[in-house]
Amino acid sequence: MRLLKSETGLFRLIELAGEKKALMIWAGIISTVSVLFLLIPFIAVYEVMAELLKHAADTKKIDSSLLITWALRGGLGMILGYFLMYIGGMLGHIAAFRILYGIRVRLADHLGDLPMGFFNKNATGKLKKIIELDVEKIEIFIAHQFPDLINTVVMLVLMIGFMFFLNIWFALASILPIVFGFFIQFSMMAGKKAHVGLKEYFDALEEINTSSVQYVKGMPAIKVFGQTVHSFRRFYQDMLNYQKFCVQYTDNFQNSYVSFRVVVLSLATFILPVGLFLLSGDPQNVAFAITLLFFLVIAPGVSTPIFKLNSFASSLNIIAEGVKRIDRIFAEKTIAEPQKGQKPTSFAIEFREVSFAYDAKESVEVLKKISFTAPPGQLTALVGPSGSGKSTIAQLLPRFWDVKEGSITIGGVDIREMKTKDLMDVLSFVFQDTFLFSDTLYNNILIGKPDATPEEVYAAARAAQCHNFIAELPQGYDTVIGEEGVYLSGGEEQRVSVARAILKNAPILILDEATAYADPENESQMQVALQELIKDKTVLIIAHRLTTICEANQIIVLREGKIDDMGSHRDLLSRNSLYQSMWQAYTTSEDWQIGELGKKEVPV
Ligand SMILES: Nc1ncnc2c1ncn2[C@@H]1O[C@H](COP(=O)(O)OP(=O)(O)O)[C@@H](O)[C@H]1O
Ligand SMILES: [Mg+2]
Repeated sequence: MRLLKSETGLFRLIELAGEKKALMIWAGIISTVSVLFLLIPFIAVYEVMAELLKHAADTKKIDSSLLITWALRGGLGMILGYFLMYIGGMLGHIAAFRILYGIRVRLADHLGDLPMGFFNKNATGKLKKIIELDVEKIEIFIAHQFPDLINTVVMLVLMIGFMFFLNIWFALASILPIVFGFFIQFSMMAGKKAHVGLKEYFDALEEINTSSVQYVKGMPAIKVFGQTVHSFRRFYQDMLNYQKFCVQYTDNFQNSYVSFRVVVLSLATFILPVGLFLLSGDPQNVAFAITLLFFLVIAPGVSTPIFKLNSFASSLNIIAEGVKRIDRIFAEKTIAEPQKGQKPTSFAIEFREVSFAYDAKESVEVLKKISFTAPPGQLTALVGPSGSGKSTIAQLLPRFWDVKEGSITIGGVDIREMKTKDLMDVLSFVFQDTFLFSDTLYNNILIGKPDATPEEVYAAARAAQCHNFIAELPQGYDTVIGEEGVYLSGGEEQRVSVARAILKNAPILILDEATAYADPENESQMQVALQELIKDKTVLIIAHRLTTICEANQIIVLREGKIDDMGSHRDLLSRNSLYQSMWQAYTTSEDWQIGELGKKEVPV
């Protein structure tokens, strides 16, 4: 992403419009022309009034054809004006939705290139709000407010010009109160207080989004622990804060806004005394009386564009704050890509003195000087108590995060020297928390290899032992997960993700507790599936069922982010106390789980 210029507010918005700017400007021009037409009725009223008043003493002299002509002109102006306004609005909307689409696609692209650390810091709800609401506000700006702004300004300039042309004193009597009203308004609005307020408003909104997502996602926990929206403190507190904020915000502005409205809506109060005063010098001046009357009639007409302009100013602030938050995402640094990527030709994984901390600022290292090699064609297992850093090791490989010190190489090539795409091409994952999209099962497997043929997809599903249960579903492979109550069990979901990995058929395979949700019955099915998957691959496996790994060529024992020992099951069982106690705990729990009958033969 290129570095952002320091453009803000209106200019940044126009910049964001990018190549769709032309469409936006056309929308502006057309709506300006529409305003010119819409002014005709005002002139018509003036002409008609002038004619009527001129002959007020002798109504027979009134030129009725002149009245009809102006009435027709006024009507026609209005029709054409509204028609053009409609066209301008259409163009504005087309421009807006295209721009919105462009920004969302760019945002989504950018998010995809960010390190996982970014998602660690930014809650789902907050990002959702930015992608949805903040981007949406740009639509309001481009489709409604931008054309409105243009035609409001044109309308005001013309109206004011016309007023000055008719009578300087009345014009001043109308303009000065408006200027004064704006002054009160802006001195309050543009102040620091308003700015801080807006930031707080956005923060409060983001908090609500975050905690509401948590509230819904955490529904099972909320239910079983008998929580309510009142006792789920965070959500409740966030809603309360938001409400407090809104009340305070309204409080801040009510005085200035009310005075502003009063002044602008009562222009006649200013015009009338000036007019009467001037008229008192020359009571016979009919032309002057017409002008006065005209001003009294159109004064309310001036207030409409003024209010529009005023609300425009405040919503521009709101949009600018949203754009700032969008820009903050664009400004986040993506994972560094090498200029000229290298591709490994062999697939041994080597960790060399790797240290890592999730939070760059904190000194708590989750991994400390980890060194090991996972040779190709072999099974390397990671074991250790929960929290010892097994998953972290697995997640450093696809560069969800980058190492703090040391290096990770694949076939001798540092993974930071590889293009992300090339790196992902050689890695296959099965995670503990599988994520299935709410799409068809077929498409969920296809993610492994988007250009696979249906035969390949079915073969992968068979190998992963999920063909049978899929075939039994009402729509088979076309069943959409999460729709019409179709959900898979944890074990089934994992087998679908194994199918993905089999389909991908990458030379390196990383399994992070891939059988964690499997019950004893489908665990054996999982085992069959995995046997299929790990043939001739470099395999890194993390498993809490130690039976899965006791045949591994190499077992690495982790303790608090350090390598405690390395060796075969037999070696470790004879010399490593941590491994011994883990093995003991494991075998006892297996006994407890399935009893003597189910006790497995373990090669000791
Ligand atoms: N996304 C994360 N952000 C911050 N800390 C994390 C994150 N994931 C794991 N940790 C911390 O890193 C340590 C190792 O975790 P992990 O690698 O998941 O352990 P294991 O897989 O061995 O159970 C733990 O102390 C955990 O709290
Ligand atoms: Mg883990």
